[in-house]
Amino acid sequence: MKDDNFLKEHNARALWHPMGAPGDSLATPPTIITRAEGSRIFDIDGHATVDGVGGLWCANLGYSNDAVKEAISRQLYDLPYYSAFAGSTNPTAIEASVAVQEFFAEDGIGRVFFTSGGSDSVETCLRLSRQYHRIKGKPQRTKFLSLKKGYHGTHFGGASVNGNARFRTAYEPLLAGCFHMTAPYPYRNPYDETDPAALAQKIAAEMVDEIEFQGADTIAAFIMEPILGAGGVIVPDASFMKLMREICTKYGILMIADEVICGFGRTGDWSGSRHWGVKPDMMSVAKGITSAYFPVGAALISEEVAEVFEQADSAAAGIYHGYTYSAHPVGAAAVTACLSETLRLDTKTNAAARGTQLYQGLLGLKEKYDIIGDVRGGHGLMTAIEFVSDRASKTPMDAATVKKIQKGVYEAGAMVRPAPPNIMMSPPLIITEAEVQIMIDAFDTAIGAV
Ligand SMILES: Cc1ncc(COP(=O)(O)O)c(C=O)c1O
Repeated sequence: MKDDNFLKEHNARALWHPMGAPGDSLATPPTIITRAEGSRIFDIDGHATVDGVGGLWCANLGYSNDAVKEAISRQLYDLPYYSAFAGSTNPTAIEASVAVQEFFAEDGIGRVFFTSGGSDSVETCLRLSRQYHRIKGKPQRTKFLSLKKGYHGTHFGGASVNGNARFRTAYEPLLAGCFHMTAPYPYRNPYDETDPAALAQKIAAEMVDEIEFQGADTIAAFIMEPILGAGGVIVPDASFMKLMREICTKYGILMIADEVICGFGRTGDWSGSRHWGVKPDMMSVAKGITSAYFPVGAALISEEVAEVFEQADSAAAGIYHGYTYSAHPVGAAAVTACLSETLRLDTKTNAAARGTQLYQGLLGLKEKYDIIGDVRGGHGLMTAIEFVSDRASKTPMDAATVKKIQKGVYEAGAMVRPAPPNIMMSPPLIITEAEVQIMIDAFDTAIGAV
């Protein structure tokens, strides 16, 4: 490895970073993270912080899980790669698919299609949902419904169902036939409805209205995150996902739960769908499936949907979609080890307890600081603060101040993720009580200093 001077000098010179302007990265080079232990990260200058971002909502087991590291390293020697396109497979892929199937059996999941990440998984679900209807003799069911504020990755399909202009505008025109419902976001919504249950009813009515306007027979699927993550940790009312499920069932629309963040314990349950008592028709997963030790995702298919494919003739049911690294043997070894560790450590239980601690701690800060407009969370380890410059009018805080707060939090001991006017938190699910307290105290210090 080159020395620190080389790294600092070349930082962002050759590498373009996702989710930022290249010029901004040149002007303010990104923090260079050099190593990690447990739930802590260390930068190139030796500054240690609690990783309140969990990598990127993904390092669920933290950074020191030897069981996962050893499984990956063993597999690199046994079989570093072989194709899993129809016609060949590998032992770790078979084992991992059974582990994932068992992990999500309670959600009604029957089959697993491995991918390389979350965007791939979303894309796979969207495509398979169209193909499902085609097999059933309804090729005109091609449209997609989704939620404003939802995040579904950056492929053209995912960006088209994405509910945030930031990820869409520069890449338009997107896929035709995608329609977005109001987000279940009581703090801000066009109905001025602050009661989460009443808002859920209004969005359900809006969804029915849209389906009847479009014609149910033109709609393939509805996709939603059980708790909206990147859009600002928007926690719907407990009735919301069930209402959406009922509507999808009534109109023959497949429900895709995008569990890329929520899956594998982050919400305090093994899936976000289970958290709300819903069985989707498909799930997209990634992140926690390997706790980021290897890039893997999966599209998960319910028994009912699987049956339609498996009983159809191969001309109609051939899945001419997939990735070179689908069912990669090293990734698959990471999946099996990660799921086994996730269950052994019962990370969902810690996520629920520490998530409540973080949420309550930040609500305490809301009492103290007027610039905190809204604190969202309380359902596992996904939490956000929305900053305002004026609490009464809910004027969003300017980006520069939010970034200043994030920098202050980092200097005071915790890495958190700014997405102005929000700052978001999604630490490893193994985080300790003391480390959560460091995060809360770091916010107190940083907000107190603005
Ligand atoms: C809900 C959701 N879906 C899809 C994605 C895309 O995943 P990836 O970045 O692995 O492609 C993300 C990423 O954060 C996500 O949060």
